[in-house]
Formats: sequence, C-alpha cells, structure tokens
Amino acid sequence: MDSKFEDLEGNFYGVGVGPGDSELLTIKAVNAIKNADVIIAPKTEKKDGSVALTIAEPYISDSEIIFQTFPMVKNFEESKEIFEQNTKQILEFLRSGKNVAFLTLGDPMFYSTYIYILRLLKNSGAKVTTIPGVPAFLAIASHIGKAAAYGNDIVTIIPATAQKSKIIDALKISDSAILMKVYKNFDEIVGILDAENMIENAVLISRYGLDDEKIFENLNAHKSDKLNYLSTILTRRGKVED
Ligand SMILES: C[S@@+](CC[C@H](N)C(=O)[O-])C[C@H]1O[C@@H](n2cnc3c(N)ncnc32)[C@H](O)[C@@H]1O
Repeated sequence: MDSKFEDLEGNFYGVGVGPGDSELLTIKAVNAIKNADVIIAPKTEKKDGSVALTIAEPYISDSEIIFQTFPMVKNFEESKEIFEQNTKQILEFLRSGKNVAFLTLGDPMFYSTYIYILRLLKNSGAKVTTIPGVPAFLAIASHIGKAAAYGNDIVTIIPATAQKSKIIDALKISDSAILMKVYKNFDEIVGILDAENMIENAVLISRYGLDDEKIFENLNAHKSDKLNYLSTILTRRGKVED
C-alpha cells in the first residue's frame, strides 16, 4: 500500500451500528450514515447480505451502497491482499471528494474487520472518524436483565475460537465471562463451562435484535444444535442474584 500522504477531500467514518436493534445507534452514527455519499457494507464470503446494512437501513436514503467481501481473519498477513483491494476502493471514493461510511456490527474497535481497514488507512492522509457502537455483549446483558459485572468482579471476554487451554485458564480466574464467536465448537464450550461450574448461569443469545433471535438457558439441552455465527454466551460463577 502506498504510504505517501495525500490531500483526500472526502471524510471516512467507521460507524458502529450496534448488534441488531436499529434503535441502538448513536445520533452521531445516524448522522454519519445520513450524510454519507457512499456506504460500505461488509459481508462475508459465505453470505450475500450484510447484517450491518440491515441494521442501518432505516437511516439510508440515496447513498451509493457498496458491498465489500472480507474473509474471517485468522492471520492478517494471509488475508492482507483482499483488505488492501477494499482499502484502495475506499481511497478512490475519498479522492473524488465523497464521504464514506464503513458500517460495522456492534462497536468498530472490538473484534472487527474495520480495525484492519483503519490500520491500512493510517498513512494515507484520509480524514478518519470512528464512531463507537453498542457492543453485542452489553446489549445482550440489558436484554436478558443479567449484569455483566458486579463490584470487584473479574470479567473475561473469550472468543470460543481461542485455544481450549487458554479458554479454561481464562474461566478459572473469572467471576463473570462473555463467550463470543460461539458456533463451531458449541458442544465443547458447553463441556468446558460444565467442568468450570459456570454452566448453570449460562445464557446463550443468537442473533440478538434480529428477526430470528433465539435465547437458550439450559445449554446442555441444546448441545447438538447448529448455531449461527452471531451467538454469544453470558455466564457467571456461583449463585445468581439477578
Ligand atoms: C466479529 S465479532 C463482532 C463484535 C462486535 N464488533 C461487537 O462490538 O459486539 C462477532 C461476534 O459478536 C457477537 N455478536 C455480534 N452481534 C451479535 C448479535 N446480534 N447477537 C449475538 N451475538 C452477537 C457474537 O459473539 C459474534 O460471534
């Protein structure tokens, strides 16, 4: 990527749209979407639509919508080329004076594709504003009425895709835990939570705020269910007070 600073006329906004409910966007996010000439809707290789776009839809009028496909990042260097191509397209819009809003599910700075775009835009001269969004795990805590943290609680945020030994170590020091990206190894995660005495209070929410949202309380009974990628577990150790 060219690292020479340019005078780019358009503004670039990384917009957190929250996890699903279209009423959970900040006023700043809504204004950035309304004023954008171009909306970038990230999508995965496997699916056609963009969840972030569905959430932002009520605020979009006549902006041009561009779908950009991104791989799931395990190793950024391996996926760098596709990120560079997408960044190049963004820079072309900015060069022609267009304001660009890049939509991102939940918060942009939290396990998001946007973070890599931000990294690639760093030395480009682009005028970047990142607008925070409500992260999925906190929206879910409110939705199910269960606190994510009390008093001196140690709360850990664990991607279920992490190494098993690291997940177990993290749970051992946790009073409360948020497990994200729970889909492929759901069965194994249930077993780990059981062994760590954190299964009783566990609640799983799939596709919070979307039309097909699901809530499971007895995770052992759902062990063999096929889960959607947008699934999160909230749990805590010991007796629940809420
Ligand atoms: C790549 S991370 C994106 C996190 C997002 N940036 C945030 O702030 O919440 C994707 C994970 O977020 C969680 N997630 C995002 N939206 C969700 C939703 N509507 N319902 C349940 N979990 C969700 C799931 O754990 C999913 O696997």
